[in-house]
Amino acid sequence: MRVITRRIAGLAPGGWDAEVSNEVVGVFDELAPEWHSRTSAQRTAVVEDALNRGFDASGRHLVVEVGAGIGTYSGLLAERFNVVVSLDLSMEMTRRAPSGPSHRLLADGGLLPVRDRSVDAVVLINAFLFPNEVTRVLHVGGTLIWVNSSGEETPIHLSTKDVVSVLPFPVEGRESRAGAGTWCVLRRTA
Ligand SMILES: C[S@@+](CC[C@H](N)C(=O)[O-])C[C@H]1O[C@@H](n2cnc3c(N)ncnc32)[C@H](O)[C@@H]1O
Repeated sequence: MRVITRRIAGLAPGGWDAEVSNEVVGVFDELAPEWHSRTSAQRTAVVEDALNRGFDASGRHLVVEVGAGIGTYSGLLAERFNVVVSLDLSMEMTRRAPSGPSHRLLADGGLLPVRDRSVDAVVLINAFLFPNEVTRVLHVGGTLIWVNSSGEETPIHLSTKDVVSVLPFPVEGRESRAGAGTWCVLRRTA
C-alpha cells in the first residue's frame, strides 16, 4: 500500500492503472467483513480533531469523502456539511456503509463523479490522494483534509510535506497530531 500510495500521488513511477485497481479492490473486498474491528474511539478522535481544530465548516455545502470504506466517519462529516458524498471503489466496503448520513457511491477517487470546482472539501482518511482529481473538483477556498489514523505507521501514509508537494496549487493550513494519528488541513488559495 505504501508503494501504491506514492505511485498514485505521483511520488513514485507507475501511476494508477487497471491492474493496480484490481489488486486494490481485491485487497479491500477481502478486508471489508472485518473492517469494523478497526474502529475505535481513539481513531475517531483523530478525525474529530482535524475537523474541529483544522477549519471552520460554517457555510460549507458539499464534501466528498474518498475511500470512505464502511462509512465509519461519514456521520461526523454529515454533522458539518449539508451534502456528503462518500465513495469507495470496493463494493464489499460500500454495501456495509450506513445509508443515512451520506450519499454512498461505488466510484473511483481517480475519476470523481462531481463537476469541476464544485466541492467545498475533499476528505481523505487513510485513503489515496489523486492530485489531479482534487485539483479539478476543489474550488479556490476549498479544503483538503488528510488524516492518517496511525500516523506514520498507517499503510496509506503521506507526510504533510509530501501532500503539499504534489498539489499543483498553493495552500495554507495546519497540521497536528492526535493520539497515534496525524492530520493536515489545507485550504486552496488560488
Ligand atoms: C485504508 S481504507 C480506509 C477506509 C476508511 N476511510 C477508514 O479510514 O476506515 C482505504 C479505502 O479506500 C478504498 N479505495 C482504494 N482505492 C480507491 C479508489 N481509487 N477510489 C476510491 N476508493 C478507493 C478502499 O476500498 C478502502 O475502503
